[in-house]
Amino acid sequence: MIDIHHHLLPGLDDGARTLDVSLSMVETALADGITHIVCTPHASHHYCFSPETNATVFAELQDAVNQRFGEQVMTLGLGCDFHLMFDNIEDAQHHPTRYTINGHNYLLVEFPDSAISPNTAQTFYQLSLSGMTPIITHPERNLILARQPERMEEWLKAGALIQVTASSLTGRFGPMAEQSAAWLLAHQWVHFLATDAHNNDSRPPLLRPAFDLVAEQYDLATAERLCIANPRAVFYGEALDPQPEPAAPHSVESRRRSTGKSSFFGRLFGR
Ligand SMILES: [Fe+2]
Repeated sequence: MIDIHHHLLPGLDDGARTLDVSLSMVETALADGITHIVCTPHASHHYCFSPETNATVFAELQDAVNQRFGEQVMTLGLGCDFHLMFDNIEDAQHHPTRYTINGHNYLLVEFPDSAISPNTAQTFYQLSLSGMTPIITHPERNLILARQPERMEEWLKAGALIQVTASSLTGRFGPMAEQSAAWLLAHQWVHFLATDAHNNDSRPPLLRPAFDLVAEQYDLATAERLCIANPRAVFYGEALDPQPEPAAPHSVESRRRSTGKSSFFGRLFGR
């Protein structure tokens, strides 16, 4: 499996604190069946984002991983967790490869929890004109998007993609994220599962539990598409294979499937 969202670089953000922690996270990921990890430090106001520093730390980490686990056992890539804010958007339009995964065309995009700009479609359009395909990270954990997933429909139609955190599906982020992730899956709005790992304890690098859940609730092909094929295309900057058509936001069948487990959304949002 291939993990496209992982705070593995040591000492740069709220992810791995030290190289030893990074190596223990790689060990966990390998045991889970992960063969590729994209290191995605935050690009936000909270942390100093320096592509040059990231590249240096990345090279040191890859060397250490090769020494500890052997050559070509774990393949690392480099991108960032791109917070959707004015400075970032401006700079990315002029320097896309500072932010995209492995310098190709896919860009992880995280929304703020507090507000979603009404100009988001225009922003995505501008990013696409600069050659970037936005991947919306964990909308199921965003308070606004979890409650109003239909706001993403026009972005999806315009070519944006969606990444759900694997452990949201298995309940680690609580019932709202779990139900929202289930809703997104049921509507075929999800293109990737990723760990968004930060450490080996509370935010571990595990994809397998979510892979198994999707394989059981849907089928093996869907689990492989979300955890292997689509992430591999992103890692190497290739086009995705044709994807299932997203269902309309309030289609009856998908709503029944996503709410079959409980009426949480119905109670909370009157659906
Ligand atoms: Fe992240």
